[in-house]
Amino acid sequence: MASKHILIVPGDGIGQEVTAVGKQVLNKIAAKFGHTFTYDEALIGHVAIEATGNPLPDESLKKMRKSDAVLFGAVGHPKYDNDPSAKVRPEQGLLKMRKELGLYANLRPIKLFDELLDASSIRPEILKGADILFFRELTGDIYFGEKGRKNDGDTAYDIAEYSRYEVERIARKAFDAARTRRKKLCSVDKANVIETSRLWREVVQKVALDYPDVEVEHQFVDATAMLLIKDPRRFDVVVTANLFGDILTDEASQIAGSMGMLASASIGDGTGVYEPIHGSAHDITGKGVANPLASILSAALLLDISFGLKAESDAVISAVDQVLKAGFRTRDIANSQTPADKILGTAAIGEEVLKRI
Ligand code: NAD
Ligand code: IPM
Ligand code: MN
Repeated sequence: MASKHILIVPGDGIGQEVTAVGKQVLNKIAAKFGHTFTYDEALIGHVAIEATGNPLPDESLKKMRKSDAVLFGAVGHPKYDNDPSAKVRPEQGLLKMRKELGLYANLRPIKLFDELLDASSIRPEILKGADILFFRELTGDIYFGEKGRKNDGDTAYDIAEYSRYEVERIARKAFDAARTRRKKLCSVDKANVIETSRLWREVVQKVALDYPDVEVEHQFVDATAMLLIKDPRRFDVVVTANLFGDILTDEASQIAGSMGMLASASIGDGTGVYEPIHGSAHDITGKGVANPLASILSAALLLDISFGLKAESDAVISAVDQVLKAGFRTRDIANSQTPADKILGTAAIGEEVLKRI
């Protein structure tokens, strides 16, 4: 039986609401399968700035390094979104966590539960069976290059940088995953224009020689944005740079029905961090309506990837599936046909999942 220490890092807004449910699910798994999970909490984002002035206090980072896995919520606050001049920002905490923990690979599975075929704005016959695994590079690109202002602040710049080494390690992870799936890999770049993309394509082409059993295609990011909606089933594994991956996976959330359905695993050199792809969602914060399934499915990824507890992870995914089959929905995945008594809030749909584990 496993004995593990899990750090809960709820962050801001609905991060607090959905992570509470994710933790309950981990607790239920421990009880049901006879594991011992101990927990601690740490601050990040706006709540950390309020408490300490720092979006990622050293104490939080220390706790992350010492834990076996981190369940993270979201960061962000409207105060900063509307104030471009703020020097200290919640998102800096998230980026620092990723960099400091060496979380260079962000796995974002886009899996449509059959019951949610009618939750998407895309036609069911286009969607049915869509199953994509994104590998978003997470510690490089325009996010982490030099940035600043010149000409008395009238000109701004952000430098995008990738090294061969950074591209190769994420590419190998993506190829390895493709081997365990449908053996198709799509590398997405903008090599017709951007120099880092030309290096990206060159490196992926080289790595591909080691994976002759994987069918590789290269697509430009603009075409990919279109193809994702036109024919999502053509994709198996997709590997791409930090910024392209950020944008394409928000788009791809519509294949799964909602931002509230997409979980992710950020992995690399040390402790893994498991997080919904969505943000702090100011528009619904405090209303008790946020969909916690992305956090629950992130907990499932944590069990599988960081702890090697596959049966436990499957039990979580199966419980989510059963809740959806029973017709329960949060507001974001309901449609005009959903009976009012089946539309549940954050805690209530969490209870339905717990019952089925
Ligand atoms: P967002 O993901 O917070 O919300 C986008 C839309 O999706 C909103 O309408 C929201 O209500 C809806 N949504 C998101 N998650 C949902 C859920 N679980 N259930 C139901 N509906 C959900 O993106 P945004 O509005 O562009 O950004 C809000 C803040 O979050 C910003 O400050 C941004 O910087 C931050 N952000 C943080 C992360 C992160 O921490 N990983 C990710 C994205 C955005
Ligand atoms: C995400 C978010 C973050 C990102 C922001 C909040 C820094 O959008 O986790 O997808 O761009 O990586
Ligand atoms: Mn994002």
